[in-house]
Amino acid sequence: MANAPTYDMKGKTCFMSGATSGINEQIARRFAEAGAKVFVVSRSIEKVEATVAMLKEAGAEDAAGQSVDARSYPDVEAAVQACAEKFGKIDMCLAGQAGNFPAGAAQMSANAFKSVVDIDLLGTFNVFRAAVHEANRPGASFIAITAPQATQPWLFQSHVCAAKAGVNMLVKCLAMEWGVSGVRVNAISPGPIDGTEGMDRLAPNEEMREKYRQALALKEFGNRDDIADAALWLTSQGADYVTGTILEVEGGTTLGDATLSMKL
Ligand code: NAP
Ligand code: COA
Repeated sequence: MANAPTYDMKGKTCFMSGATSGINEQIARRFAEAGAKVFVVSRSIEKVEATVAMLKEAGAEDAAGQSVDARSYPDVEAAVQACAEKFGKIDMCLAGQAGNFPAGAAQMSANAFKSVVDIDLLGTFNVFRAAVHEANRPGASFIAITAPQATQPWLFQSHVCAAKAGVNMLVKCLAMEWGVSGVRVNAISPGPIDGTEGMDRLAPNEEMREKYRQALALKEFGNRDDIADAALWLTSQGADYVTGTILEVEGGTTLGDATLSMKL
């Protein structure tokens, strides 16, 4: 972190879905440290309350949150209204909520498939659709969190691949529709981020972790600040001509299997 760029988010108001653990929680923390007002939502009220307390300690004294299932449009809309009433406007909106478990398509139930598609894809639509009327101004930044599975077929990830492919296309469509109002819509595609729920579910033991690591061009896992830095940049003025982009912060994951690469 010694050379990490610093950003000034003072005066910016953020609505962040799925920001109560893992990657998105760190995004919330870094925005709070940069001076933003942050409103977080996820299903677990305990996780929401713990995150709000953490954000207050990080400097966002008026941080707030609410328990919301992103699959329910009325719930999301009510939380967006609560956020707008508290802060007056929304400058940045994050849709980071996701569900994942490894399961073969022939074994998982239709409801298992639907659960992930609803959380990831419908949830992203709900969050962005509810927030856009409170963020209808030049400079507003919408960020979805997608995954390499959006463009690469992975074994036992048909539900996630389908859902995240939909997220990528949704982001591009919304960027095209909303750009006329100066609203930018982008996605960040993280690679394997160490110490997260997603990573633990897909690579639960050291043997799998090592295979995964060796297949990466950069031979190392990412960390949560790699993704937070990307979110800060996408929201900063430095990215004011960037929209409809899927920003890959993934150590070369989608380049292909680099297991046999050799040092220069
Ligand atoms: P995580 O810690 O499990 O975070 C998921 C968040 O979403 C939690 O705050 C969770 O809180 C919330 N959530 C889940 N279902 C929800 C729902 N129906 N409505 C509202 N909130 C919901 O996961 P993570 O590993 O950090 O992943 C974060 C994001 O990065 C995801 O979009 C994931 O696809 C993406 N990603 C992760 C990796 C990785 O290596 N970890 C790689 C590529 C992409 P509640 O349980 O309280 O609802
Ligand atoms: N393998 C196969 N099916 C599974 C499964 C697994 N490991 N885990 C859950 N399911 C199925 C359930 O059996 C159920 O299907 P059914 O009704 O036909 O039995 C369906 O998925 C929904 O499960 P449920 O537990 O009721 O859903 P939920 O809405 O409470 O939770 C999940 C959603 C399943 C995605 C849960 O894993 C979750 O909350 N994940 C959030 C955290 C996360 O995944 N983080 C990583 C992000 S990358």
